[in-house]
Amino acid sequence: MKKPTLIGPFSQLLSMADMPLKGALADEKLTVIEDAGILVLGGKINAVGKFDDLKSDDIEIEHIPSATVCIPGFIDAHTHICFAGSRANDYAMRNSGKSYLEIAKTGGGIWDTVTKTRKATQKELVTGIIRRAERQLKSGITTIEVKSGYGLTVTEELKMLNAIKEANTKTQSDLISTCLAAHMKPKDWEGTASDYLLEISSKLFPILKSENLTNRIDAFIEESAFSPLDIAPYFQKARAMGFSITVHADQFSVGGSETAIHYNAVSADHLEASSENEIALLAKSNTISVALPGASIGLGCDFTPARKLLDAGGALAIASDHNPGSAPMGDLLTQATILGTFEKLSNAEVLAGITYRAAAALELKDRGALEEGKIADFITFPVADYKEITYHQGQLKPNAVWKNGTKI
Ligand code: NIG
Ligand code: FE
Repeated sequence: MKKPTLIGPFSQLLSMADMPLKGALADEKLTVIEDAGILVLGGKINAVGKFDDLKSDDIEIEHIPSATVCIPGFIDAHTHICFAGSRANDYAMRNSGKSYLEIAKTGGGIWDTVTKTRKATQKELVTGIIRRAERQLKSGITTIEVKSGYGLTVTEELKMLNAIKEANTKTQSDLISTCLAAHMKPKDWEGTASDYLLEISSKLFPILKSENLTNRIDAFIEESAFSPLDIAPYFQKARAMGFSITVHADQFSVGGSETAIHYNAVSADHLEASSENEIALLAKSNTISVALPGASIGLGCDFTPARKLLDAGGALAIASDHNPGSAPMGDLLTQATILGTFEKLSNAEVLAGITYRAAAALELKDRGALEEGKIADFITFPVADYKEITYHQGQLKPNAVWKNGTKI
């Protein structure tokens, strides 16, 4: 029988276990175990504690040489890394003064990526997803949510979701897929927005279930996309079929977060335009707020009011929104720490936002913290003090990544 492996000693281990899902977090809330070890067996965590206490005759030991901090693998709970093409033109146009919505109206924006993604084969999409996911894995991201939403027909959305499913079998990172067929009304759809959503919910939803492609339905609620009224029957159908709901909400105008709460969505993401009213409603609700600083940096606009959401008692995850248009950078730790400096977030709040609170936004109970029974996804940084991790604003990279107990 295989023996458990004890990995360590780590100068510090941040378990992120037994911490509250909601509300502000002072750094004192972090459980910091010094001279720590993790006991791993069969890809899962057997125990976490002092390295010397976990030693026994019946184990193998994997020694960690010098000063090292160990924390759970990061989770990026919102990305669009399945796409083809580049939107460098959009970026240049925005920086010469055109707005995101103006560019969208003149043929750029999401539609530009839709036309390029439709031309790509499933194989080409798979290659792109794997390349991006592997880069993220080196940065410590062991789980990534990936949305469709650049296909916008039943067939093309299926191509994207099948590409995500296939890429998941070909990378060590875990990909969690989401159907974002409600990203915008396709420009070549001749009927109304409601007709389009009906087509998707009646033809695509059953295939998502029968082919096990995703259990998550997302929609972009915005003046340029779908209104709360348009989306009502779509979300009702999704709920009746047992899908989890998530929403692109309050990015430029409000309405999305209230809709998200109404449909008991697992998360409302963006929220750059949320005002006191939305913040109070979100904080009271079970819907997790997801800040996307990569979109604020990519578009040059306001950050999600993360401080206010936390102080009001909300649950806040932080994700990259990595996509070719509004968030081309795709560097979660850099973005989360920059959000931290502008929004005055503690280390605990930033790290919670990309570990256990991000796991909650994806309804993943088996990860996000280091404790018995969770999968053994953890990363180490070559420093003795965890505060160095955010201090370097993303330039300090992990020196090792373990996925399901195996060092990558
Ligand atoms: O999350 N807001 C809408 N959707 C994406 C942008 C996608 C794109 O511009 O291609 C977002 O920012
Ligand atoms: Fe997005």
